[in-house]
Amino acid sequence: MSLTSNAPLSALSEFPSSELSLLNHEQQAPQIHPCQAHLSTITEALAERGYVVIDQALPASLARALQQRVLFLKANDALAEAGIGRGDDHQQVRAVRQDKIHWLDRQHAAEQGWASAMEKLRLMLNRELMMGLFSYESHFAHYAPGQAYHTHRDAFRGQQNRVVSTVLYLNEEWAAADGGELVLYNDGGQLLERVLPAFNRLVVFLSEEFPHEVRPGSRDRHSIAGWFRVNGSRSHRVDPPR
Ligand code: OGA
Ligand code: MN
Repeated sequence: MSLTSNAPLSALSEFPSSELSLLNHEQQAPQIHPCQAHLSTITEALAERGYVVIDQALPASLARALQQRVLFLKANDALAEAGIGRGDDHQQVRAVRQDKIHWLDRQHAAEQGWASAMEKLRLMLNRELMMGLFSYESHFAHYAPGQAYHTHRDAFRGQQNRVVSTVLYLNEEWAAADGGELVLYNDGGQLLERVLPAFNRLVVFLSEEFPHEVRPGSRDRHSIAGWFRVNGSRSHRVDPPR
């Protein structure tokens, strides 16, 4: 079966187009649109303290469709072990992270919905904070019970590559006892926040500033991890995504 077939999603992929205008800052409603409010909250929080946790981040139908999508990919064996970088030793990589991933593209309605939400966020951050974000890349991730991602940074200072990290969680009724938290630390290694991977919760943080880890949980844990990048291309070197 084709992985881009939306047979199991036929009912879910029909979002009303208004739902696709999530995080829609162009809407000229008299009162502030909730999606506009999320965009403003994210922008202000990034400027003030560098990270933010947003609940009910997406329209419920889109979050549900993304959840169905990752479950479908998993059921069809389309998730693969993540690599940390080209040429890295496989054993070393698996010691650091054990999740399986699948990069999103725009072939599927739910993935398009996600891409357009992140595009609105990209434009807002560029307009308000002049971040010069150039592209966005993201992957679904599945952590089986007991699997983790040890403390790491998503980017290193001066590399000018990944600038803003996002994680969206797709897990119904996640309880504290289920573990699987994202733990954020400050530059000095002090614990800032423990975030449960609750359904439709979005975490956004500056990639260089915050070491973080995924703690092992007792349930299957699904998410979309993504990164806004600046264009690091130089005349002597191209800088393609990933
Ligand atoms: C990552 C990551 C955090 C999470 O994929 O780089 O840190 O909570 N994920 O899944
Ligand atoms: Mn990370």
